[in-house]
Amino acid sequence: MSRFLITSALPYVNGVKHLGNLAGSLLPADIHARFRRQTGHEVLFLCGTDEHGTPVELAAHAAGVPVADYCARQHAVQADIYRRFGLSFDHFSRTSGIANRQLTQDIFRQLDKAGFIEKRAILQAYSPTDRRFLPDRYVVGTCPHCGHANARGDQCESCTKLLDPEDLLSPRSAISGTTDVEFRESRHLFLKLSAFDGRLRDWLATRRNWPPLVRSIALKWLDEGLRDRCITRDLDWGVPVPKDGFEDKVFYVWFDAPIGYIAAAIKWSEAAPGRDWREWWQSGADVTYLQFLAKDNVPFHAVSFPATLLGSGLPFKLVDTIKGFNWLTFEGDKFSTSAGRGIFTDTALELLPADTWRWWLAANAPETADADFILARFVDGVNKDLADVFGNLVNRCLAFAAARFDGIVPPAARLGPLEQQLALSLDTHLANLRRHHESLALRKAADEVRAIWRLANAYLAEAAPWSAIKNDTPRAATIVNTGINLVRVAALAAWPFIPSSAAKVLCSLGEAADAVPWPQDGTQALSAVPAGRRITVPPLLFPKIAVADLATT
Ligand code: 2FM
Ligand code: ZN
Repeated sequence: MSRFLITSALPYVNGVKHLGNLAGSLLPADIHARFRRQTGHEVLFLCGTDEHGTPVELAAHAAGVPVADYCARQHAVQADIYRRFGLSFDHFSRTSGIANRQLTQDIFRQLDKAGFIEKRAILQAYSPTDRRFLPDRYVVGTCPHCGHANARGDQCESCTKLLDPEDLLSPRSAISGTTDVEFRESRHLFLKLSAFDGRLRDWLATRRNWPPLVRSIALKWLDEGLRDRCITRDLDWGVPVPKDGFEDKVFYVWFDAPIGYIAAAIKWSEAAPGRDWREWWQSGADVTYLQFLAKDNVPFHAVSFPATLLGSGLPFKLVDTIKGFNWLTFEGDKFSTSAGRGIFTDTALELLPADTWRWWLAANAPETADADFILARFVDGVNKDLADVFGNLVNRCLAFAAARFDGIVPPAARLGPLEQQLALSLDTHLANLRRHHESLALRKAADEVRAIWRLANAYLAEAAPWSAIKNDTPRAATIVNTGINLVRVAALAAWPFIPSSAAKVLCSLGEAADAVPWPQDGTQALSAVPAGRRITVPPLLFPKIAVADLATT
């Protein structure tokens, strides 16, 4: 048994997230965490809300409530949605908590002591109309790299390049829209990222197994030359900077947010006796650390957060593998929180059960390229996979067992050639499924789950227990016994993807979903449910859906 520390990018606390956020970090991380638990590993799966930064302040401002109240309320809303989506976090934390504040300040002090912090006077956007500084997203304008008209002062959403507000062409205030923006001098603290080039290159050289998307973004950053980054802001909301002369400033959100992963483990530790976060985060601990995130987050996780930890000299683990995702688009265009475009996670749960979304988003994850969510394709996909293949398998096999064998698992006689062949095929599929999960190939893993469902259906169609029952009851009993075991393994393979539905199936077979061990091989998988056990038929798992069911207005 080995240990896996798994984190999903911390969603900004401002507002309910859309399906793209779910598909590009939270859901894949959950599926992997579930798979690792299922295969007997110890897992610490952490996430939380990212509660600092200008987007959050802007949203609180728009809602007309104090930022702290806004964050508390929105954290609870998101936590509830993720619970209903079956995201199995061991802890869902908050970056505005005390643990994160203290740890961020400690790490900063260490960096400062080690000489990696430098004071510099810089020009900051200031609006006389708004009577305030306009850091990061408080200022918007045209991207100097790609010409995108609504680039934000910290990053261009279109080309993902990191920006400073003064890089923007035609800057304007995000609060009032005024173009009355000037640049005033303000003293700030910089993290000397340029000092880490060699250490980061050496470290990245030990991470050759990273997915190409992530590795290429990280190397591009290094090859373009690391720029020292300003890590303080002229804002009230955030982690206060513990340094003389900077008491009126807070840290930049991207400085404290990833530290929030460690703080989440501290909070997890504090929540019950016998837990020790250091056993998970200490460098040298026998733990594999995996991060799941979208591609615009890669630079922070592959470069600036590792540099922060390395520079602090504190004994923290660095990430072993970063699984980065492309974008999920909605009907050919971007999901947009500001424009309300796409399906949001709260609405999604009102429309359909979580598992329906989970399945499609995982099976069509934006892994090697952007993926497009098209309603008609979604409806067609889930009807086929869930209703016609998995749902049909469960229903026809268990309903037949209930009708013809009084809901008692019948005994299997010696397995015939069909069953022997089935065991071999199952062996191959289970090995493939395990390999795909281990290499974080989400779509391939979903394909393999579907292949197991199809294999089971094909077996039942060929073995035809409804014919055998007419003149060969022992043979019909063998087929039904095998079919019930196939239903079990089909649900087992499905569990990381569609945990609630898989649990219903396993429960109807008298098994506890979270305690079903991964089968040793195909033969063992086909003989796991003992003859004589009482089983039930679960209620219809996946009613067919139509595009009209998804109308949101
Ligand atoms: O891009 C985002 O949604 C950020 N809130 C992700 C932060 S991940 C981590 F560093 F906290
Ligand atoms: Zn751009």
